[in-house]
Amino acid sequence: MNYRHAFHAGNFADVVKHAALAQCLARLSGPLHIIDTHAGAGVYDLAGEAALKSREAQAGIVRLAADPAAPEVFASLLKAVSSLNPEGDIRHYPGSPALICGLMGKDDRLTACELRGDDYSILWPWLNRHCLKAKAMQADGFEVALREAKTGQRLFVLIDPPFEQAGDYERTAQVALSVATGGACVMIWLPLKDLETFDRFLRRLEAGNPPPVLVAELRLRPLTNPMAMNGCALVFLNPPVGLQLELDVICGWAAQKLGETGAQSRIWRLS
Ligand SMILES: C[S@@+](CC[C@H](N)C(=O)[O-])C[C@H]1O[C@@H](n2cnc3c(N)ncnc32)[C@H](O)[C@@H]1O
Repeated sequence: MNYRHAFHAGNFADVVKHAALAQCLARLSGPLHIIDTHAGAGVYDLAGEAALKSREAQAGIVRLAADPAAPEVFASLLKAVSSLNPEGDIRHYPGSPALICGLMGKDDRLTACELRGDDYSILWPWLNRHCLKAKAMQADGFEVALREAKTGQRLFVLIDPPFEQAGDYERTAQVALSVATGGACVMIWLPLKDLETFDRFLRRLEAGNPPPVLVAELRLRPLTNPMAMNGCALVFLNPPVGLQLELDVICGWAAQKLGETGAQSRIWRLS
């Protein structure tokens, strides 16, 4: 596994994913068992070597925080960022587990899975110190989600793989369909590089006879270079009612403020 999220923390895709995650959780009633299948390190130092090398946060969270007209849908994310940075400047950025910890209802709990030893060694002490209702596991998040779905609890499952390997798409579709068929609300993040890969993923979901599916697609630039991340997408199975409007605002702001000329977003129902 080569992927390290520290290079990408706080970039445009994180801003969109994390704002949508906050809105989605706010619309779900508890008690929920939240499973973050691909948790990463939990919190990121934007002054660390990886973040300074990529400087991706500059075109993401830094721009959002500097926008005095940022829509209300970003308020939860901005609040989480502020609480990690009491001195003002944005030095620390919350990954999905840290964000979820601040947003969980009183009867909710979190299981955060991370396979990489170096990221896990940042994740588990942070969760231990800051979030009594969270458990970190150095385990395959897909397997954990499938196992927990058999227990009859109300689940929210965030699936956010690196998509380094072609097999990640098939595994994501399989696991999402399996847990959503049992009633879980599932949120998937995907990169948009070329359209065929994304379309194939959606066709795979459709072929699995899914429950309701909501898709948010953000294109920041034309999809002409399939090696580049030209945008991102979020796919929800069993989405909470009303989320469509908020996704529209989040992706619309990102297209307008973070994209190239002609950037666009659209939200639609696959089934
Ligand atoms: C995109 S990052 C996660 C970012 C995180 N969800 C966030 O929003 O802050 C993907 C992470 O998944 C980890 N990973 C890859 N395969 C995994 C698996 N099967 N189970 C758990 N973690 C995995 C990688 O090491 C990487 O840290």
